[in-house]
Amino acid sequence: MEDFKNTESGKVPRHVSIIMDGNGRWAQQRGKERVFGHSHGVESVRACVEASVETGVRYLSLFAFSEENWGRPQAEVSTLMGLMFKAIADEVSALKKQGVRFRTLGDFSRLDPALVEAIRSAEAATAPEEGKEPVLDLIVFLSYSGKWDILQAAKKLALDCAGDISRLENVGPDDFAARLVTRDIPDPDLIIRTSGESRLSNYLLWQAAYSEFLFVDTLWPDFGKEEFKSALSEYSKRDRRYGKVK
Ligand code: IPE
Ligand code: IPE
Ligand code: MG
Repeated sequence: MEDFKNTESGKVPRHVSIIMDGNGRWAQQRGKERVFGHSHGVESVRACVEASVETGVRYLSLFAFSEENWGRPQAEVSTLMGLMFKAIADEVSALKKQGVRFRTLGDFSRLDPALVEAIRSAEAATAPEEGKEPVLDLIVFLSYSGKWDILQAAKKLALDCAGDISRLENVGPDDFAARLVTRDIPDPDLIIRTSGESRLSNYLLWQAAYSEFLFVDTLWPDFGKEEFKSALSEYSKRDRRYGKVK
């Protein structure tokens, strides 16, 4: 396997984002309940965090629960939220040890306040010391949707411009991006989706404008370090032209 740390550093994506899909099918293939797949998915998260640290990826973001996922059966939603609780409790110290900063983004107004509290304390516990850079930012998108993010940014912008047409005329893409919840995170260089689905499912709509996409058939619980590193290998072969000619 290629060692990305020692190859051309510009080819290592700064921000890798993953749409973690296929847990239910993974469980069903084994004759188990869907939740069995969700709990195994946590191991893939651990593997991808470690692989990111090993390869020098600076931001790893994960789509864990979409706005649309609230429409799943109540029992599955509660199990997923419970798993989130457990994963935070179990993983925080390992993340801290590796120098990983944990962050969560999404519409928290829909989450159980106790979960929000657990998220906030994990974020505080993994925040780097003053003046220090984390090795990796691990960003979990929870109760998130791209349209929700764009709408909340548009509302902020409307309030900030307060009907002042001259201010509105000067608004550019950077001013808009500064109001998205991802304002301090670079746009993803590489977006991976597992489980063979080739769609964005209302994920980072604005931020994905120039991302490279990789759709793999592997189901999320089977996606480990090797799969992560071969995704980076695939990315290193891409030619990003941004509309220009070379
Ligand atoms: C991804 O796996 C986890 C979430 C969306 C929360 P799924 O639960 O969507 O698994 P499949 O796609 O039904 O196999
Ligand atoms: C997308 O997966 C959302 C997450 C991975 C969190 P879904 O399984 O919910 O997406 P669809 O329904 O197949 O588009
Ligand atoms: Mg799915």
